[in-house]
Amino acid sequence: MKALITAGGHGTRLRPITHTQNKHLIPIANKIMLQYALEYAAEAGIREAGIIINAGDTSIQNVFEDGNQFGLEITYIPQDAPLGLAHVVKISQDFIGDDSFVFYLGDNILVGGIKHFIDDFTKNGTNCHLVLSKVSDPNRFGVAEIEGGRILSIEEKPDYPKSNLAVTGIYVYDSTIFEAVNNIEPSARGELEISDAHQYLLNKGYSVSYSEITGWWKDTGKPSDLLEANRLVLDSIKHKKLGIVDEHSTISGRVQFGGNSKVINSTIRGPVILGENTKIENSYVGPYTSIGKDCVIKNSELEFSILMNGCTIEDIQRRIEASLLGNDVVIRRTQKKPVTHRIMVGDQSRIEIE
Ligand code: TTP
Repeated sequence: MKALITAGGHGTRLRPITHTQNKHLIPIANKIMLQYALEYAAEAGIREAGIIINAGDTSIQNVFEDGNQFGLEITYIPQDAPLGLAHVVKISQDFIGDDSFVFYLGDNILVGGIKHFIDDFTKNGTNCHLVLSKVSDPNRFGVAEIEGGRILSIEEKPDYPKSNLAVTGIYVYDSTIFEAVNNIEPSARGELEISDAHQYLLNKGYSVSYSEITGWWKDTGKPSDLLEANRLVLDSIKHKKLGIVDEHSTISGRVQFGGNSKVINSTIRGPVILGENTKIENSYVGPYTSIGKDCVIKNSELEFSILMNGCTIEDIQRRIEASLLGNDVVIRRTQKKPVTHRIMVGDQSRIEIE
């Protein structure tokens, strides 16, 4: 069993963050998103993983190198353009060979890892095993039509979904999937769609089984999904006290302090995670907040947010919430005259002020 993990794509919904960084390197609870996928694969006993990257993007390789730190042997597979998930599978045929493999979309996060889905695939002895999850907005996903425990059809983003069971970004295949991806045509949006490959397997009478996710699963395509995934992961962190908390501060709930972090005259209500060298002074940090390393929060209030490394928030009077800050972002109140908002942000940034 091998793993094929995606880390390419456009990432348009996460601009402007994705103008300067691959979305799969965004931290969720201070751990790089793609690391969850690699850990799930290693836990499932997989040794060989292929990671799909956009051609020319070396950022993923710079972080994960040969995969040794996870007990994996990683092969990087460049995709010339994001031409669809079935295209990803198609260009990986040499890497996969005759093996079975788990195809995992690197922007998905779920509780409990992927081992039990691989076990279900092996037990069922099917050609393709899909992982489904009940969702409230099925028209955003590939949707499975099920009857008597069998999948009858898969429809991509249907106007009238036949169930509320979305096809998640975890699939287990034997090599018949290559027959499918080599025989389907691009869709109206010009991509080779993975749902069309699944429908091909069903039409040809190949066996397609499924498992339903019982815990949480999150596809982190949009900023609000990232905040939600961050919330779900933080919900299960353990309290870990490194760093310094002075006697004027109040800490409640589970808080993970990075090495050399300092909390001075502040209130922190967990679950919260603070990176190394981060300083919180005269401030409030509320639940479901992840703050990277080398950040400063001073005379401000913050909750339900993700801050990457090197950010500063200083003297902001109104509480900041539901916010996503890239690396080295500064938000600061100044006394400079005239009294105005002075803003310097890159393309497609979003600032909401009262
Ligand atoms: P999507 O979230 O469907 O697409 P995207 O990442 O391009 O984002 P957006 O819609 O905001 O522009 O992709 C799902 C996963 O598959 C994600 O890990 C990116 C990856 N991907 C590829 O690696 N190659 C591709 O051709 C496509 C379409 C996606």
